[in-house]
Amino acid sequence: MATIESINKDKLPSHVAVIMDGNGRWAQRKGNSRIFGHKNGVVAVRETVEAASELGIKYLTLYAFSTENWNRPREEVDALMSLLIVTIEKELESLLENNVCLHVIGDTQSLPKSVQKQLFRALDKTRNNTGLNLVLALSYSGRWEILNAMKKLASDVRKKNLEVDDLSCDSFVQYLTTSEYPDPELLIRTSGEYRISNFMLWQIAYAELYFTEVLWPDFRKEDFFDAILDFQKRERRFGKISEQVNTESVN
Ligand code: FPP
Repeated sequence: MATIESINKDKLPSHVAVIMDGNGRWAQRKGNSRIFGHKNGVVAVRETVEAASELGIKYLTLYAFSTENWNRPREEVDALMSLLIVTIEKELESLLENNVCLHVIGDTQSLPKSVQKQLFRALDKTRNNTGLNLVLALSYSGRWEILNAMKKLASDVRKKNLEVDDLSCDSFVQYLTTSEYPDPELLIRTSGEYRISNFMLWQIAYAELYFTEVLWPDFRKEDFFDAILDFQKRERRFGKISEQVNTESVN
């Protein structure tokens, strides 16, 4: 397993995004309820946040609750919302001590008022922190975000604030909820599932994808470091050829 010392600090991804998957299966394998799995998933959240902070990564996005997750049994949704409230409240002190700035992307208006209250309080208290930017994706999906962006864009065209011919990838990005953050360079998904599940569809265009069999509640710092080491071995060509990329990195 990788250690922090084995990682080249000059070649870190600026933004790592994580699809945390496998809580339910982890719990079921132990003969426990799915909710028990989510509770243990919080341990892995803490480990991942600490690992990213210790490495000096600037942005970490965690897919904590998707638009589609609202369709889960009511009991599970309620338990996840309660877990969010408790976790944000419990971890706030540690976020402040570790200089972590909390952000959120997603349809926050659809979250229960009690979650919104804890969340906005934590966003406010951590907003001047200058270390890791921790982005929680809550009631989020890539299609929701793109559609939302299109609605705002169409409204700007209608109000004549935007000319359709002036649209570019750079100007479109301004309508996304992630406009302030760089695109993820590395996307990790746990639990041996090889899917994107409607996550950051625009932003991961050039992300390196890393899949691990580890179920989310078992994910530890060393697993995060393994993913970073793997990323550092990849050649990122962005559509160019190997020779071009190697010449550019020398110059
Ligand atoms: C996916 O596992 C996990 C989730 C939908 C919820 C993730 C939430 C947490 C880890 C806890 C709270 C997080 C924060 C950021 C405070 P799954 O239920 O889909 O597992 P399965 O695929 O095995 O059924």
